[in-house]
Amino acid sequence: MDFQFNIIQEYLPFFFKGALLTIGLSLIGVIMGLILGLLIGLGKMSKNKWVRFPFTVYINCIRGTPLLVQILIIHFGIMPLFMSPVNPIASAIVALSLNSSAYVSEIFRAGIQSIDRGQMEAARSLGMNHVQAMRHIILPQAFKRMIPPLGNEFIVLLKDSSLASIIAAPELMYWGQAAQGEYYRVWEPYICVAIIYLVLTLSLTYLLNYIERKLEKS
Ligand code: ARG
Repeated sequence: MDFQFNIIQEYLPFFFKGALLTIGLSLIGVIMGLILGLLIGLGKMSKNKWVRFPFTVYINCIRGTPLLVQILIIHFGIMPLFMSPVNPIASAIVALSLNSSAYVSEIFRAGIQSIDRGQMEAARSLGMNHVQAMRHIILPQAFKRMIPPLGNEFIVLLKDSSLASIIAAPELMYWGQAAQGEYYRVWEPYICVAIIYLVLTLSLTYLLNYIERKLEKS
């Protein structure tokens, strides 16, 4: 098997440009997912079952359908209602954010519900109201427990942002496919793309471990 390094050489600048977009997409996706996920998670924890219902439906629909299908529906079905021509990067951001929010909301819920009931009771018996107890006692403890699964979510999103190549958002995978299309070669572009994804996820893992260790000390 010959390995044509000149293909990689030619496409490397595009791969780097694509990797930047990949990082951007997953970063925005995870941040938006965090904000939306917090709201959805709070809604899902409501005591009123009619308030809970729409959130449950949302989470089940998002988690129960493939991200690939969601990207296609959003890009070709929903985004054209708001912009024309549709920017694939915008569609990818919307799809990744909505998808991530469903998973993050469950991470939030699990984090909050994992804190012992006695913590809330103790805080209330010290005279705090529910909101104060949440803010000063429950959430700080819950956040620490949420860090590992949230980091996991970030890594998943980083890899799954590659699905946005289907709508021609020029992220890393898109450029891999472009190189394959030009040269009809599989190994060079995809091995290179895989290595870049691996470097990204390994750096992220390292960073997350570091943050976790820092938080453990505090
Ligand atoms: N590949 C899965 C899908 O197609 C992953 C969804 C994204 N996962 C996540 N934690 N945001 O639905």
